[in-house]
Amino acid sequence: MQHLFASDYDDLSHKVASLIAAQITLKPESVLGLATGSTPMGAYRLLVQWHRCAGLSFSKVRTVNLDEYCGLGPDHPQSYRYYMQHNLFSLVDISPDNTHIPNGLAEDPDEECKRYDHLICDLGGIDLLLLGLGDNGHIGFNEPDCLFGLSTHLAHLTPCTLKANSRFFSTPEEIPRQAYTMGIRSIMEARHIILAVSDRNRAGTVAAATRGFISPELPASILQLHPNLTVVMTKPDSEDVPDDFRPR
Ligand code: F6R
Repeated sequence: MQHLFASDYDDLSHKVASLIAAQITLKPESVLGLATGSTPMGAYRLLVQWHRCAGLSFSKVRTVNLDEYCGLGPDHPQSYRYYMQHNLFSLVDISPDNTHIPNGLAEDPDEECKRYDHLICDLGGIDLLLLGLGDNGHIGFNEPDCLFGLSTHLAHLTPCTLKANSRFFSTPEEIPRQAYTMGIRSIMEARHIILAVSDRNRAGTVAAATRGFISPELPASILQLHPNLTVVMTKPDSEDVPDDFRPR
């Protein structure tokens, strides 16, 4: 496990974008696993800028997103397909056929999960997977007490996640209760993982996840067993982290 400490959000975005750009430069036909949310926005902005100004090309890149809300279609402004289109895909030279996200409107959820797992397998697995970290330690939508052995599945979102997501919806009724997500197994099979954490309030969670007890109660803790994990985080103030978990 490698830790990269960033001075602020811009620095964190630069570090994350650099890792992704390096991956694409070394292997133009890379399979990238991508996250949505507030953390990767700055990195996506930089990748778009480097595409426009420095010739970074996505023409051979394939992407698979981590998750999608169940019940939201691609035109819904809060769907993850919409987010990816507006923050990255439509702004770089990636072929739409090479961008993959679970179908939130799939009629048969079991079939959709199988389809997504087969797709990742057919692509040859994920070269580089970008993860954010939820307040409750979730990765993708693998919520506390998830099963570590699962691949893509339909997850029930916990009250903590529903509360975090509520900022994007005008009424509580609109917040999706379920989401398709890559499972922990799919995540752990990625060849390189970046865990990006920009929120200083999550410093204790990231410390517990990366150095504490490995347990489904804190889904991100499984990442300690990954052979090629890079944690990129804003350097926590010492009071943000319990004594046992101060960065060394
Ligand atoms: C999003 C995802 C989630 C987020 C996490 C952090 O695709 O899988 O696990 O990465 O909830 O979200 P932000 O970055 O908004 O703090």
